Amino acid sequence: MHSSSQSHILPLLLIILGSSFSFSFGYNPKNPPVLDHHHHHQKTYNGHNLLRAYPKILRTSRRELITASASAKVVYNVNDFGAKANGGDDTEAFRKAWTKACYNSKGRSVDLVVPKNRNYHLKPITFSGPCNSNVTFKIYGTIKASSLQSDYKKDPRYWIMFENLQNFRVEGGGTGIIDGNGRKWWDNSCKVNESLPCTTAPNAATFYECNNLVVANLRFLNAQKMHLAFQNCVHVKALSLIITAPGNSPNTDGIHVTETQDIIINSCRIRTGDDCISIVSGSQNVQARDITCGPGHGISIGSLGAGNSEAQVSDVVVSGAKLIGTTNGLRIKTWQGGSGYAKNIVFKNVLMNNVTNPIIIDQHYCDQEEPCQDQASAVKIRGVVYENVKGTSASTVAVKFDCSESFGCQEVLVQDVNIVPLNDEGIAEASCQNVRLRHMGIVSPKCSSK
Ligand SMILES: *[C@@H]1O[C@H](CO)[C@@H](O)[C@H](O)[C@H]1NC(C)=O
Ligand SMILES: *[C@@H]1O[C@H](CO)[C@@H](O)[C@H](O)[C@H]1NC(C)=O
Ligand SMILES: *[C@@H]1O[C@H](CO)[C@@H](O)[C@H](O)[C@H]1NC(C)=O
Repeated sequence: MHSSSQSHILPLLLIILGSSFSFSFGYNPKNPPVLDHHHHHQKTYNGHNLLRAYPKILRTSRRELITASASAKVVYNVNDFGAKANGGDDTEAFRKAWTKACYNSKGRSVDLVVPKNRNYHLKPITFSGPCNSNVTFKIYGTIKASSLQSDYKKDPRYWIMFENLQNFRVEGGGTGIIDGNGRKWWDNSCKVNESLPCTTAPNAATFYECNNLVVANLRFLNAQKMHLAFQNCVHVKALSLIITAPGNSPNTDGIHVTETQDIIINSCRIRTGDDCISIVSGSQNVQARDITCGPGHGISIGSLGAGNSEAQVSDVVVSGAKLIGTTNGLRIKTWQGGSGYAKNIVFKNVLMNNVTNPIIIDQHYCDQEEPCQDQASAVKIRGVVYENVKGTSASTVAVKFDCSESFGCQEVLVQDVNIVPLNDEGIAEASCQNVRLRHMGIVSPKCSSK
């Protein structure tokens, strides 16, 4: 049977290798196909074109496919594991496909493909490693969350969890969508309906303990809570992501970074109901470039130090950002009573349009029902640069440094900052408490010297 399917395929293979098409064929483990190693240009798998152009090949091929590339790459398709994309639950099929992709292809590179133009439905699911191979999860179609809250009973904090993965990529090819289907969670949030008790909602995608991770060219929609959370990860790239949820959806942060080191967030457009990017304790060496935010709460370091906790955030660079209609622009927020530090933080080349608090350090942050008590200890803020920040403020106070009475904010540099009122009315103001800062270049509004 395999030899007969291959005898159909090999002549086609020659034709296709001659053209620049990508191609896959049935792989027979007893009789491995001979690859043309003289073709050094990489042939990459393109499941969808292939599916259209050569339906017969897919029917005769087995689950395991390899591409015509120099390094034998294995390709799995969730459809071959029973995923139907017909409105029913595809969770079990994804689980099976993952098990195969992660554990059964030792030493090779594996693509796990979710085909384009299809809508898959998933309950909470964990994709765990470590895998025996380097896996690329190619999400070219849509993955939509179950909206039944009872499906999340086991652990309501997560919908899709990726954990313990090395050299792992999630690639959306520009068409992939992860849809948290969050409406029900928002309606049941105590932030939306104050007569309801406060409960937890799941993050759409959580990456936990991953090393050397890339998430690229993917869209996220309407997360139940945060869209992407990177937790305890190292060496992460989040590239060309489009994240969208209504401006009034509660807690729908775009990208949340916690206990994560060496992360680059590049070319992302984020419109949500909460922080665009939030960076919290344990995070170090975070770079965000070419970020567009709004609506939402802006780019935030913190909150830090809640419940008298110790926080450590350092070496954060936000370079190249546009903030449009957000409630905050560049914010550092800490609770009273915390300890630790937030240091070496650079915000540069930032455009603001209609931002309520364009530049703000808030060391009296309090996001709870009871009022927060005055406390002597605080997370120490040291070394913050605002360079080349321009635009309009929707409120009178465009620059606000509300620093701790106990330590103050140290080594703050404000250079070439010009923020004007949105309506060309009056002048923008700076409100500055307990901050040691320097101005350079042209700065407006300025803290008055105290
Ligand atoms: C997996 O990825 C790592 C890091 O990129 C690389 O060094 C290694 O050769 C890869 N392994 C395979 C089998 O492709
Ligand atoms: C808020 O929740 C209460 C209690 O469940 C419910 O009766 C009420 O209709 C909700 N209000 C809105 C605006 O959804
Ligand atoms: C400013 O932003 C607010 C809040 O997003 C919005 O309602 C308002 O229309 C915006 N105004 C302008 C002039 O863009």
